Amino acid sequence: MRIDIVSIFPSYFDGLTLSLLGKAQSSGILDLHVHDLRDWTFDRHRTVDDTPYGGGAGMVMKPEPWGLALDELSTSTPESRPTIIFPSPAGEVFSQATARDLATREHLLFGCGRYEGIDERVFDYAASLGEVRLISLGDYVLNGGEVAVMAMVEAIGRLIPGVVGNPESLVEESHEDGLLEYPSYTKPAVWREREVPPVLRSGDHGRVAAWRHEQQLERTRRRRPDLLAD
Ligand code: ADE
Repeated sequence: MRIDIVSIFPSYFDGLTLSLLGKAQSSGILDLHVHDLRDWTFDRHRTVDDTPYGGGAGMVMKPEPWGLALDELSTSTPESRPTIIFPSPAGEVFSQATARDLATREHLLFGCGRYEGIDERVFDYAASLGEVRLISLGDYVLNGGEVAVMAMVEAIGRLIPGVVGNPESLVEESHEDGLLEYPSYTKPAVWREREVPPVLRSGDHGRVAAWRHEQQLERTRRRRPDLLAD
């Protein structure tokens, strides 16, 4: 998979060279490119924002640098059109199902907005180059899209075959089957007067599986009843 990220703070993404996603890049599974939006500006101050038409607080990102960035990066995979993702608190809410869907794409292009957002015409233009998705991390406001893109790239990246060493570990996680994950324990069997549930030490795989499923249901009922309603 190819991933392009456009931001005015490209160093936010330095962390993506670490751990599993870093390995996926060295092994060629993931072809990740981070770009500075200001590379598509031509004035002395490398301006990316301006005051909003109609007035109001804050600044809006200008369409011209975005247009040039999208033109250049949307053709980086000649055989397929990109899925173009703009993180936005006004978008559809990101979920494990969204991550699974996006993990099947050839080319993801993320555009990180800042300030009061990006000139609305950019989204319409982007739709002429690929499928456009506005995606929110949740019902709260961040200062810009960078942190949201970090979270999305990690959630999507780990679902690409070969990125996570043991694919079985993906199956038993929270949200994969619509339930929260069961609790995990390791040695010692007793720690600070707290004992590991004896069933996990019984060696009876059937009882262990049943106990874990019951724990998943119980946790989900208590912490996230909305998931069971779905
Ligand atoms: N940009 C600002 N807030 C955001 C959010 N909640 N999700 C995605 N992008 C954002």
